[in-house]
Amino acid sequence: MNDYTPTREDRFSFGLWTVGWEGVDVFGGAVRPRLDPATAVHKLAELGAYGITFHDNDVIPFGASAAERDAALKPFRAALDETGLQVPMVTTNLFSHPVFRDGGFTNNDRDVRRFAIRKAADQIDLGAELGAKVFVAWGGREGAESGAAKDIRAALDRYKEAFDLLGQYILDRGYDLRVAIEPKPNEPRGDILLPTIGHAIAFINELEHPELVGLNPEVGHEEMASMNYAHGIAQALWHGKLFHIDLNGQTGPRYDQDFRFGAGNARGAFWTVDVIESGGYDGPRHFDFKPPRTEDMDGVWASAAGCMRNYLILREKTAAFRADPEVQEALAAARLDQLATPTAAPGETVDSLRADEFDPEEAAQRGMAFERLDQLALDYLYGVR
Ligand code: GCO
Ligand code: MN
Ligand code: MN
Repeated sequence: MNDYTPTREDRFSFGLWTVGWEGVDVFGGAVRPRLDPATAVHKLAELGAYGITFHDNDVIPFGASAAERDAALKPFRAALDETGLQVPMVTTNLFSHPVFRDGGFTNNDRDVRRFAIRKAADQIDLGAELGAKVFVAWGGREGAESGAAKDIRAALDRYKEAFDLLGQYILDRGYDLRVAIEPKPNEPRGDILLPTIGHAIAFINELEHPELVGLNPEVGHEEMASMNYAHGIAQALWHGKLFHIDLNGQTGPRYDQDFRFGAGNARGAFWTVDVIESGGYDGPRHFDFKPPRTEDMDGVWASAAGCMRNYLILREKTAAFRADPEVQEALAAARLDQLATPTAAPGETVDSLRADEFDPEEAAQRGMAFERLDQLALDYLYGVR
């Protein structure tokens, strides 16, 4: 029997800030000590991950001198060399320091915006050097709590400007790296700009180099807004924009819970894995979760291992579901083959559709047979099939 032990071929990666989260929240301070980045690299490699990702300030303290930066990076780089762990993605912290109280790229203060772009470019340099293929931009502080404080159209102009400048920078340096915007509806701001996958895709189309910019959708962020994550990433794939993913768990529209992947909305997780595995996504399976404050470091590693284990369990279940002859028959009964067929034959026009002989009363009698199909999926999810 499969014991769901991850291997590097599974391409699981973790944010350093996930296992490194000390548990500071709005109601309480740290419950765990600082996790040394090199220790995180060793431990994740041991658990079977292939990659680690990080914000600049997860490794390099804010405001570090060149010497302090080198000193902070040295043991981290050594751990990467020792373990062979990859850095598939990097990102910039434009939200923790008080200077970013009103955001980075869309801060009303022009000086702060200029600083934020420089800070992002520095991390792009480091990412390119470490072989990262994706730079994630999560604009958690780009937003507002009140109306007049933010001119949304001007803020979007400035947001576009930042991505255009950074895109040109990536091209000028010849980096083999693309940018992935991570949408989120709210938290920490009352309302965040580019709140959903759909808003972000529309925004990307307005950029100078749309081909360089895609998405890093997070399970919890879409579900906080009552959106269907599997549908969202399927649409991102349809646009050729699923550059990266943040997998975690959430139970409905409430605060950003960041549970381990597979905890929370289990049915949503099943379809998420189904889309990832069968929809043409070939990037890392990246986890962005927060091990609950209840846990000590043993609990943190159990939580990280759980993310991978749940993914592998669901991968096995969704593959078995797709391969099941009864499921294939149920898919045909639900007319998925018809959905995949163009509505008009080649050369047909609206006028040729007028020639159809169609009895809507008769067609209205046909049930869609979706419940039987969905029950087969639930039988797999609940482990009875
Ligand atoms: C959140 C966000 C962050 C970002 C990360 C990358 O929890 O709301 O998902 O974890 O993904 O900061 O920039
Ligand atoms: Mn989150
Ligand atoms: Mn995230």
